[in-house]
Amino acid sequence: MNTVLWLIGLCCAVFISHGVEASHPYYRNFQSLQSTSIPIYQPYRTGYHFQPSKNYMNDPNAPNIYNGIYHLFYQWSTLGAVWGNVVWAHATSTDLVNWIHHNMRLSHLNPTFVQGKPIIQYTGIIKSNQWNYQVEDMAVPKNLSDPYLVEWVKPIEYNPVIKPTGIINASAFRDPTTGWQGPDGIWRLTIGSKVGNNGISFLYRSDDFIHWTKAEHGLHWAKDTGMWECPDFFPVAVDGKEGLDTSVLGPNVKHVFKVSLDDTKHDYYTIGTYNPEKDKYTPDEGSIDNDSGLRYDYGKFYASKTFFDHEKNRRVLWGWANESSSVADDVKKGWAGLQAVSRTLWLAENGKQLKQWPVKEIEQLRTKRADVDVIFKLPKLEEVDIMDPSWVNPQLLCSSKPASVQGKSGPFGLLAWACKNFEERTAIFLRVFNHQNKYVVLMCSDQSMSSLEESNDKTTYGAFIDVDPHDDHMLSLRSLIDRSIVESYGVDGKAVITARVYPKLAIGNEARLYVFNNGTENVKMSSMKAWSMKKAEIKYLKDLEFSDI
Ligand SMILES: *[C@@H]1O[C@H](CO)[C@@H](O)[C@H](O)[C@H]1NC(C)=O
Ligand SMILES: *[C@@H]1O[C@H](CO)[C@@H](O)[C@H](O)[C@H]1NC(C)=O
Ligand SMILES: *[C@@H]1O[C@H](CO)[C@@H](O)[C@H](O)[C@H]1NC(C)=O
Ligand SMILES: *[C@@H]1O[C@H](CO)[C@@H](O)[C@H](O)[C@H]1NC(C)=O
Ligand SMILES: *[C@@H]1O[C@H](CO)[C@@H](O)[C@H](O)[C@H]1NC(C)=O
Repeated sequence: MNTVLWLIGLCCAVFISHGVEASHPYYRNFQSLQSTSIPIYQPYRTGYHFQPSKNYMNDPNAPNIYNGIYHLFYQWSTLGAVWGNVVWAHATSTDLVNWIHHNMRLSHLNPTFVQGKPIIQYTGIIKSNQWNYQVEDMAVPKNLSDPYLVEWVKPIEYNPVIKPTGIINASAFRDPTTGWQGPDGIWRLTIGSKVGNNGISFLYRSDDFIHWTKAEHGLHWAKDTGMWECPDFFPVAVDGKEGLDTSVLGPNVKHVFKVSLDDTKHDYYTIGTYNPEKDKYTPDEGSIDNDSGLRYDYGKFYASKTFFDHEKNRRVLWGWANESSSVADDVKKGWAGLQAVSRTLWLAENGKQLKQWPVKEIEQLRTKRADVDVIFKLPKLEEVDIMDPSWVNPQLLCSSKPASVQGKSGPFGLLAWACKNFEERTAIFLRVFNHQNKYVVLMCSDQSMSSLEESNDKTTYGAFIDVDPHDDHMLSLRSLIDRSIVESYGVDGKAVITARVYPKLAIGNEARLYVFNNGTENVKMSSMKAWSMKKAEIKYLKDLEFSDI
């Protein structure tokens, strides 16, 4: 007989008690290295990014707001600083910045609000002697009067609510989205999968959130994209920055479809149209519907998930930034994985991409420096370098043209975590090009000199940004710099790059921050603001506390 293993979480992490599905590395041999006590000296532990007191964290799950309290669940390893035996953990906040970590641990959940009541929908695993398969389960809060909703129950009479049937590959069937209601009053949700090597998002419908029927065709699929994890599907307003409830439809609404590609570990999205009668999503013409498409973040950011914050009328994005350090170093520091600062997102004026910005609440931590916002004046089109048509991959272009390679208009930008003689530095910079008499900006985050430590992954990241010359002639660059993470927002949040860095020398008072221009043309800096950030207040119920360095 099959047994349902409830305490297993997965969005992208699938753990089966005696075997492992390869969606995250599993370091069995490193378990023995796991130290029992976490060192007090923690130069890379962040001040205002979300992280648990210890151990490995991956996907954000079920972010939401209920009765004025934000909830964030996340996947957490019980094996220490390495992935494995993943369970759910839970934290709450009133401002998305200061958090209380609760002692609830559950499996992968995704709440949808039916008549104002949260329901969590998550992927579980059914295990038999012959095989394992992925199913969708639901859970409800035990006590709606508990402001923190710490306890959740999983009614056995109707779980699992969705099982893989027909052509569905039962080992590749996970991550239900937040549900939305069509004009017919029927609820829908979509689940990530693949058929052959084509990524697909299967669609299900229900009246009561308990009985689900599979639609004949998926909501969307794309050729040769491999397994789709953590799909996210939501409406955005054509005008303005306000977010929309997940069920909103209408003439001034576009839809966003995002997937996390298991094969490349990138989150990409398209903007398109949702037809609620046919239950089909169609990306706009010209959108690239594969790994080369638009990304929320061109650095480290995976398994992301949005929710609609109805109190502030905004759509909020969460995403996981994994480590770039070696597993041995992770084990030494006792933890691995951060959540990027939560961001609001909305449709850009041109309707062709999203823009993102750190949630406003993060500004309450500003005192003097480490949230840096610089604005450069856009040079004249005649004064910038000509773009070579063969430059199609921004990441490769950034690697071949680091900050030391001079151009006319750029590189200019920020040097973060720089030590006295620049042996260590992380360069976040822009270059401006003329491409067929239009501006193209290349944004780079260059980690190649970020640390003297050899074992880190120091990949350079890059993104192209289309710039409308009428955009006030300004190019902004904002970086949130927090110990071992640098999150950079280029040109009003048109491209975001998250990087992880572990300086050895540029720590504490030895760390310096510079603005630089290494292009031959002058670049005017029209404004520069920098704030130091206070530590966010984090309460761990029961777990460890960390001292500052
Ligand atoms: C539900 O939560 C409220 C608020 O915390 C508490 O007063 C009440 O005793 C709880 N009810 C049960 C049945 O646990
Ligand atoms: C089903 O998915 C699993 C996990 O990704 C994969 O190993 C297997 O080859 C798939 N089977 C088929 C028939 O595609
Ligand atoms: C992605 O899609 C674009 C446009 O449809 C296509 O030109 C390109 O070859 C695709 N790339 C991959 C890796 O499939
Ligand atoms: C985590 O980081 C490593 C190395 O930096 C990378 O190769 C891997 O794909 C990352 N995983 C995810 C899920 O982002
Ligand atoms: C600027 O370019 C010079 C000459 O190539 C180089 O020595 C210097 O390190 C560069 N500055 C930065 C920030 O890379």
